[in-house]
Amino acid sequence: MKLEVTGLTKCYGKTRALDGLSLAVESSRVLVLIGPSGGGKSTLLRVLGGLEIPDAGTVKINAHPLLPDAAALQAYRRRNGFLFQQFNLFPHLTARRNIALPLEKVHGHSPADAHEMAEQALARFSLLDHADKLPAQLSGGQQQRVGIARAVARPPEILFLDEPTSALDPEMTAEVLELIQELAEAGQNIILSTHEMGFARAVADQVAFVAAGKIEEVSPPASLFGAPQSALCQRFLSRVMRY
Ligand SMILES: Nc1ncnc2c1ncn2[C@@H]1O[C@H](COP(=O)(O)OP(=O)(O)OP(=O)(O)O)[C@@H](O)[C@H]1O
Ligand SMILES: [Mg+2]
Repeated sequence: MKLEVTGLTKCYGKTRALDGLSLAVESSRVLVLIGPSGGGKSTLLRVLGGLEIPDAGTVKINAHPLLPDAAALQAYRRRNGFLFQQFNLFPHLTARRNIALPLEKVHGHSPADAHEMAEQALARFSLLDHADKLPAQLSGGQQQRVGIARAVARPPEILFLDEPTSALDPEMTAEVLELIQELAEAGQNIILSTHEMGFARAVADQVAFVAAGKIEEVSPPASLFGAPQSALCQRFLSRVMRY
């Protein structure tokens, strides 16, 4: 995917979550956003995913402008997939129904087709044993894997993941990160935010460092982690890589 973002501003009351943010990425399969808490990663993901309309600025993805038009944004959102930190699943529905329901209600598939697509997604991610369980009967890692299976059951143009492992313990984190790595290797376009620096380095082809509502630096992981240019990015990495 190609991204051309210029002058994005988004304020919540007096907080400038995005402050004239610009980002140009010529070609990326997996773009990873890193940076300090409150820096604007989630806000940027929501704007790029068409979930939030910026106060100012423009976004073009693969040369198509993202317009602040309700119908166009809804169509755009339907072509993409989303997963957030936690609370992704409907608590009263089984894993299978969590995947099948949006295929019926959002994408207009027949119940039989939706069921079949859900079965395939569950099988692809080794989740068939959990198909009939409610979210509360699944571990956090299993819930996130069901959430990802749902997000890709109908292959999205771009998969947006906002800190998909931050609510998980290390072992569950590993199983979710492996799944994301698998999707990346299968060619899925992904934009994700994470505090897992090792994972960012392994999965990204471009890493953007977001701080104070701006992109401080964007480059391939080897150079961003190996020889960061911006002072803010150097300071952030030296702190988070210390332990
Ligand atoms: N819905 C909202 N209402 C009010 N303020 C918000 C809202 N969303 C974000 N903010 C503020 O905007 C700024 C950027 O937040 P954002 O969630 O984008 O940061 P982040 O980089 O994702 O942080 P983290 O790493 O902690 O997830 C923060 O100061 C936050 O408090
Ligand atoms: Mg966030």
